[in-house]
Order: sequence, then C-alpha cells, then structure tokens
Amino acid sequence: MRRIFSGVQPTGNLHLGNYLGAIRNWVTLQAEYECIYCVVDMHAITAAQDPAELRASTREVAASLLAAGVDAKTGILFNQSQVSAHAELAWIFNCIARLGWLNRMTQFKEKAGKHRENASVGLYVYPNLMAADILAYKATHVPVGEDQKQHLELCRDIAQAFNSQYGVDCFPLVEPLILGEATRVMSLRDGTEKMSKSDPSDHARINLTDPPDLIARKIRRARTDPDPLPGTPDGLATRPEAANLVGIFAALCDASVADVCRRFEGAQFSTFKEALTELAIAELAPITAEMQRLMDDLAYVESVLQDGAERARSLARPVTREVQEIVGFLAA
Ligand code: AMP
Ligand code: TRP
Repeated sequence: MRRIFSGVQPTGNLHLGNYLGAIRNWVTLQAEYECIYCVVDMHAITAAQDPAELRASTREVAASLLAAGVDAKTGILFNQSQVSAHAELAWIFNCIARLGWLNRMTQFKEKAGKHRENASVGLYVYPNLMAADILAYKATHVPVGEDQKQHLELCRDIAQAFNSQYGVDCFPLVEPLILGEATRVMSLRDGTEKMSKSDPSDHARINLTDPPDLIARKIRRARTDPDPLPGTPDGLATRPEAANLVGIFAALCDASVADVCRRFEGAQFSTFKEALTELAIAELAPITAEMQRLMDDLAYVESVLQDGAERARSLARPVTREVQEIVGFLAA
C-alpha cells in the first residue's frame, strides 16, 4: 500500500514557501497515492494562539488547500484535533522517543531560541505528535519541505524502536518526498532566512491571499545584488537572494535551475523580476480567487472538514486498537 499523509499548521496565511515546498506537490501526488491531508491545530498550540484566530485560521487554511487543488473527495482533508487517535498515539510515542533524540531537533532549538526554559513541553515533543499523525494511518510517504526532513527521520526512529521493543512489524518506515526546485524558499528580504508565516515583515513573503498588485510590488522590492544573472547554477553559489528567486522561477514553471540560468544569462534583475511576477501571478491568481469564493461559503469548508474527520477516524481506529493490544492496554 502507498499512502500519503502530510500536514500544515493553521498559524496564519499560507505562503509561497508552503505552496512550492509542499502543497503543490500534495496536489500532484493525488494522482498516484491515497492522500490524507491535515490542518494540524494541535501542533499550532505548541505556541500560544488566540482561540478565535486559531478557529479562523483553521478554516482559512482548509479553504486555501481546497483552492490549491486538494481533492477532499478522492482523498481526506480534516483538522487534527477532531481525531483523538493522534493524541492517543502521541502519548505512547512520548514513551518510546528518547530525550537524546529530541535534544537534537534543530527546529526546537530555533523556535525555543534563548528562552528554552520557557518553551512549552508541547513544543519539545512536537515531533512525537507528528510521528503519531503519520503512523495513525500507517502512511508510507510524506511530502514536505526541506525543513521537516529531520522530523521524518525521527518518525522512522520511533517506528523502528516501537517495532523492536515489542517485537512486532506494526509501523512502516516512512519515506520523505522532498520534491521540486524550491524545497526551501527563502525570505524576499534576506536570502539566508526561511520564508515563514511568523516573519514580522509581510514583504518577506508572498501569501496565497495577496492580490496581483501586491505580489508585483513584493517581487519588485525583493532584495537582490547588483550583478546580472549567471549562465549556470554555479554562479548562484554565493548569491542567496539571486539563488532564491531563480529557484522560485524554476519551481513555478517546472524547469530546472540550470534551464532558468541558461534562459536569463546576462539579464538584469529588473527584467527577470518582471518575468517572475508574471509567472507568479498566473499561478497564484486563480487560487486566490477560488479561496475568496470559499471564504464566503465557510459552511461548505466546515462540512468538508467534518466529513474528512469521520473518514480519518475510521482509518485510524483499527491502528489504535492494534497498538493498544501490542502495548498491553485492556480492550475497551
Ligand atoms: P508549516 O507552515 O510550518 O506548517 O509548513 C507546512 C509545509 O510547508 C511543510 O511541509 C513545510 O516543510 C513547508 N514549508 C514551510 N515553509 C517553507 C519554505 N520556506 N520553503 C519550502 N517549504 C516550506
Ligand atoms: N511539522 C509540520 C510543519 O510545521 C507540519 C506537520 C504536522 C506534518 N504533522 C505532520 C507534516 C505530519 C507532515 C506529516 O511543517
């Protein structure tokens, strides 16, 4: 069986990094795999969230996913907190994962920053919940951006440790699917920082909700260096902002970075940015329009999530039962 699971946090608008690193691939992979996609509201509360904003973001992110082409009929789209298997399995995995494994997680170090003692315990065990998300469905493949690679390695370690501790062959070892030319989209203001929902500058990212004129302005103002574009990818090695824009262009038109360099060799960034703007708007404008339509029909979006949760529950139930039996919990 080839089954996909992936998730996205409802902590704000989706941006071009989410889209190129993950969601666009989620959509393409639907043709080949059984797909389960999840808005991970339980992961979102590892940092404090305003309840009303969390509710609104959960609906909005679900609407963006539908607008981007996630098919909730052939696949499943739901929000994590509606399926209790995630929390149940996460507890068991808290008892499998070792402190030493979690201490190595770079995302925790980045997010906790200097105030490690004040980070929530939830933020620390975040990767265990992520493993539970995936393994509650015995998913085999997980499409994500580059930043999630280490978490997926931990998921494999947990599956392996569980199987070996109990002498079973219960959980598969998941394969990460990190696809395309933009697996790590960087900020438009600083080519060494990841494009992220939490960047205080909105000009650092392109949101899926941005109207065309705002996309154009953000690309025009994106940081670059004064040199023209190089003819080969080697010429981008020490130019993070240039490399980022070329990578975005390549991903948007399904070309390689080498192809894009060949095409724009010697061009000024002003010319390249115009072409990039046109490409970005052509790809994003239909998604933005569909999303706006869905935001006016939130009852529909909620019904999709509820139907998804019901179908997710019935897939996860036999797995939870199997795990309870293996661990030695009495049957309900
Ligand atoms: P998040 O917004 O952290 O919930 O991420 C949802 C998905 O988008 C994950 O698969 C991430 O790896 C991916 N992602 C987030 N930010 C970026 C980025 N700047 N570049 C590429 N992929 C990203
Ligand atoms: N941690 C992921 C992120 O922030 C989101 C996520 C939660 C996820 N559970 C998952 C991704 C399971 C893939 C599979 O990007």
